[in-house]
Amino acid sequence: MASAVCALSYWDNFASAYSRLGPPLRPSPEDVRFVEGAIDGWRSANTQRKVRALLLGVTPEFAKIRLSEPCSLLAIDNSLPMIRFGWAGDVPNQRSAACGDWLRLPCRRESCDVALGDGSLNCLRYPDAYRAAAVSLRDVLRPGGIVLLRSYVRPEVGENAETVFEDLWRGAIPTFHQFKFRLLTSLQRSAREGVAVEDVYRYWQSRRVDVTALAVRCGWEQDVIDTIHYYRDTPTVHTFPTESELRSVLLEYFEEETTFVPTYYLGDRCPTLLLRRRA
Ligand SMILES: C[S@@+](CC[C@H](N)C(=O)[O-])C[C@H]1O[C@@H](n2cnc3c(N)ncnc32)[C@H](O)[C@@H]1O
Repeated sequence: MASAVCALSYWDNFASAYSRLGPPLRPSPEDVRFVEGAIDGWRSANTQRKVRALLLGVTPEFAKIRLSEPCSLLAIDNSLPMIRFGWAGDVPNQRSAACGDWLRLPCRRESCDVALGDGSLNCLRYPDAYRAAAVSLRDVLRPGGIVLLRSYVRPEVGENAETVFEDLWRGAIPTFHQFKFRLLTSLQRSAREGVAVEDVYRYWQSRRVDVTALAVRCGWEQDVIDTIHYYRDTPTVHTFPTESELRSVLLEYFEEETTFVPTYYLGDRCPTLLLRRRA
């Protein structure tokens, strides 16, 4: 049976650090605007009744999206600490969160209109668990329902970690989060294998980076650079398919309506796919 790669312990620690992350590891206002517009567009073309949305995870930017009434949003995450510390808060009859597994979503069949997620699939084993999540999503969506998935992809032509470090010291990477994202993908050999964040941490340590000099060189806060320590002693593995590898799995279950590519640095590696459940 396909299973999730993420270990709860990683997210348990991560919950308290999420607020210190920045784009592209969190959605930006333009990503949020695209998601809101897509849901509004879907509603006006499809239904006047209450829209039921499902969020894979507790990503605050997506939990707080502006949904025209009537609507409700249910967030599903398998980490209780993430729900406790990262959840935007329940709003009676509108917004709630529950503990559950995306591979076996705790929702009735054909009970949801819209599903959304940010980096959700990147927490799963490729391709087995991507397929299991897609099947689970397809089952809980009504025919014609939509899925909006912002995903992290690696470039079709990979880059190596050496290049990433050269760009780091040249001051060519605007933020440390963008550096981490490039480092993660550069150290992954294949989507099937994924990349263990512990290995990324060990690689970072092996480079013996002078953090004070880096902070001065790039104008970054040292405590932002210290977010790399959350990769230490954790069994978490992330997977970064290319965009075509991602599509090759998802299009087995959904039709692609469009893809949004944001304009910020590395935006081409954070596309949001708008998919429709086949009727
Ligand atoms: C939505 S993803 C990505 C969040 C953020 N955008 C990032 O890149 O760090 C992270 C969340 O997924 C949850 N998660 C991972 N695998 C899961 C699964 N199989 N079922 C439910 N939640 C899962 C984790 O607990 C965590 O809260």
